[in-house]
Amino acid sequence: MSEHYFTQEPVSRAEHRRIGVVLGGQEAEVVTAGGVFSPEHVDTGTRVLLDTVPEPVPGDLLDLGCGWGPIALDAGLRAREAGTPVTVWALDVNARALELTRTNARALGLEGPAGEPGGSPACVRAVTEEQVPAEVRFTQIWSNPPIRVGKAVLHGMLREWLPRLAPGGAAHLVVAKKLGADSLLRWLDDEDGAGLGPEFTAARVGNSRGFRVIRVDRAG
Ligand SMILES: C[S@@+](CC[C@H](N)C(=O)[O-])C[C@H]1O[C@@H](n2cnc3c(N)ncnc32)[C@H](O)[C@@H]1O
Repeated sequence: MSEHYFTQEPVSRAEHRRIGVVLGGQEAEVVTAGGVFSPEHVDTGTRVLLDTVPEPVPGDLLDLGCGWGPIALDAGLRAREAGTPVTVWALDVNARALELTRTNARALGLEGPAGEPGGSPACVRAVTEEQVPAEVRFTQIWSNPPIRVGKAVLHGMLREWLPRLAPGGAAHLVVAKKLGADSLLRWLDDEDGAGLGPEFTAARVGNSRGFRVIRVDRAG
């Protein structure tokens, strides 16, 4: 039986592999495995997102659905390079994905906590939903969200996490055009859709290689 990449506890053989990637503008070697999303390379949609997002700003950044960690690691590496204090929360339901993200963060020197004397200004924390403290508000959310979980689950995730943007914060989401990017944008921007409230606005800010990047802003 084949497993979905969003399985919580994959039982398929992990088949760990090392791949070379470019993240945060530098070459890196990371570990991936079967049973997680895009184990052979950085997914095209993820690359489109990373080419579109602005630089990390000080504070907490959420990678919603981290997989083996390309978005979180890219954010952590960029923040460290710029000396920007950022805690990247890499969130997933898939235990194998979280373990891989942890391993990759450790190998790249991005283990937390961030901003400790003598430590890195940036860190990546691979966590489940329950491990994100309730008081944390995100200055940025970057995500290649799991479209294949179905609309109800996807909408539930976005309704849960987008309201945790700090005032003045922004989320960037990448979605394939053929998987409903435009209808997701309409839903996000509609009071009767996502119902995020008047302080939230959504717009398309990227369009490349069959993917749209949607930006959701929370007024400051
Ligand atoms: C399209 S993949 C992107 C993975 C990775 N960020 C990348 O760019 O390669 C979406 C991820 O969302 C995760 N996911 C599914 N349901 C989730 C949920 N309810 N909360 C958090 N993550 C979830 C999946 O396990 C998967 O790793």
